[in-house]
Amino acid sequence: MVASSSASLLLAAAGGGGLLLRQLFDAPTGTFTYLLADVPSSEGLLIDPVFEQHERDLSLIRELGIQLVACLDTHAHADHVTGSWLMRQATGSAIALAAAARAENVTQPLHHGDRVAFGSRHVEVRSTPGHTDGCVSYVLDDQSMAFTGDALLVRGCGRCDFQQGNAHTLWASITGQLLSLPDSCLLYPGHDYTGRTVTSVVEEKAFNARLGGGATERDFVGHMDNMKLPHPHKIAEALPGNMRSGKPREAATATPSWAPLQRSYAGLPELPPDWVAEHRSGLVILDVRSAEEFEGPDGRIAGSQWIPLPELEARSGEIPTGQPVVVVCHSGSRSALATQQLLKAGRDQVANLRGGLRIWGDEGYPLEGAITPGSLS
Ligand SMILES: [Fe+2]
Repeated sequence: MVASSSASLLLAAAGGGGLLLRQLFDAPTGTFTYLLADVPSSEGLLIDPVFEQHERDLSLIRELGIQLVACLDTHAHADHVTGSWLMRQATGSAIALAAAARAENVTQPLHHGDRVAFGSRHVEVRSTPGHTDGCVSYVLDDQSMAFTGDALLVRGCGRCDFQQGNAHTLWASITGQLLSLPDSCLLYPGHDYTGRTVTSVVEEKAFNARLGGGATERDFVGHMDNMKLPHPHKIAEALPGNMRSGKPREAATATPSWAPLQRSYAGLPELPPDWVAEHRSGLVILDVRSAEEFEGPDGRIAGSQWIPLPELEARSGEIPTGQPVVVVCHSGSRSALATQQLLKAGRDQVANLRGGLRIWGDEGYPLEGAITPGSLS
């Protein structure tokens, strides 16, 4: 087969049309990232990139031959760190965010009515505060699609109980800026946690549980003010990171080559379950949970070595040398600490199992002694 030129590759990748849209997903945070590209010019935009998914997004952009003009965030997120700064380092793309968010390292501060061009196309910036006061939505030039961030979600909307949230303001944003778009305008949300990927103006007007079907502002505010949601668990890490546009506090060290390590925002080496499963025979799996957990109904990876986290420092000499170590616990948080301890102690081939045994089980990898395999809670 004759290799396609990058222009014809992009055209075909876009389904033969003039615009490419790819929806990408970060499962741990339920975040959608969108890649938009104008096929004739190959120029593109990336909306709401996730720090931990940088390598994935960059590979796609490079493979499709897209010249990335800008990363656009819809707001300063509380649940994940943006990948905008990393992408700028890799491609020179602008970092665009609402000026109202007052974040550092933004190269293109946005205001309501601004246009961000990519090739012959553009998105229009619409201020849609209420979830945060710096929230914006991006509407494609022909109003066929809009990227709503957390202002409007599929059959829902972003919460209003922290980060300057205000339900009255959100009502005005959604009804005035989003549901006023053509009924056929497709709406792409910033998140979904139940597998829904896209909606439309006509559907949300009719079926949005909070504000559709004839609900009034009073109904909406009454709903939003009584949701009693738990505090977002990553806010302490995510918000400061986003106020730097995702620039790490310290430069990441060079990635060792023994495995396809991905560095979390905290700088820890992590490995995905599929790689660990595939290379299981060449690895020491170190389980740092308590005795009750290790012997309990959640089960364990067969053949793993067990040293509870509180005993790790004293007993780290028991871990065989000469083989890489993958550390596991239930969710990946205690094992992150253990990974850090082992790295500090001078072990170099150490990584955390991303998502812990919970995700390992959810993805269908075997757990010896588990009572309900694959369904850890
Ligand atoms: Fe948000």
